[in-house]
Amino acid sequence: MALRNVRKNGDPVLRKKAEQVNRFTPGLQQLLDDMAETMIDSEGAGLAAPQVGISKRVIVVRDEDAILELVNPVIASSKGNVVDYEGCLSFPGIYGEVSRAEHVQVTGLDREGKEVRLNAKGFLARVFQHEIDHLEGILFVDRASHILTPEELEKLREKS
Ligand code: CO
Repeated sequence: MALRNVRKNGDPVLRKKAEQVNRFTPGLQQLLDDMAETMIDSEGAGLAAPQVGISKRVIVVRDEDAILELVNPVIASSKGNVVDYEGCLSFPGIYGEVSRAEHVQVTGLDREGKEVRLNAKGFLARVFQHEIDHLEGILFVDRASHILTPEELEKLREKS
């Protein structure tokens, strides 16, 4: 396993529509392992392959102690709406308020190409929507209704 360099806002790879994965190779498994390691090292809640410079439809998401991996993920259905703040490893120190579905069902494939179906709510549902957006070249600042000011960030830190 190896850490990969996280691409920051302004890198063109973050704006590209990522390609479907059709081959489940050792290279894909290496990518998934490296993404998980990079996400944990960066203390992120999720990571999409374009964020490590690979324009493929691959995401990893942290679910408490587990790491969920999805290849070619799709939001199959969603329900409800909730506004909360979120950030992104490609935007260090920036947080914004974003409206997201409260419940989502996500389908996709695992590292061997087997079908996976996951239900998520709340923060986990938010992370899935954020990471799947990355595969379309959509960044959270595009959806944010408000970017937190330094004062608001301070208050948020005091609460947590
Ligand atoms: Co992000």
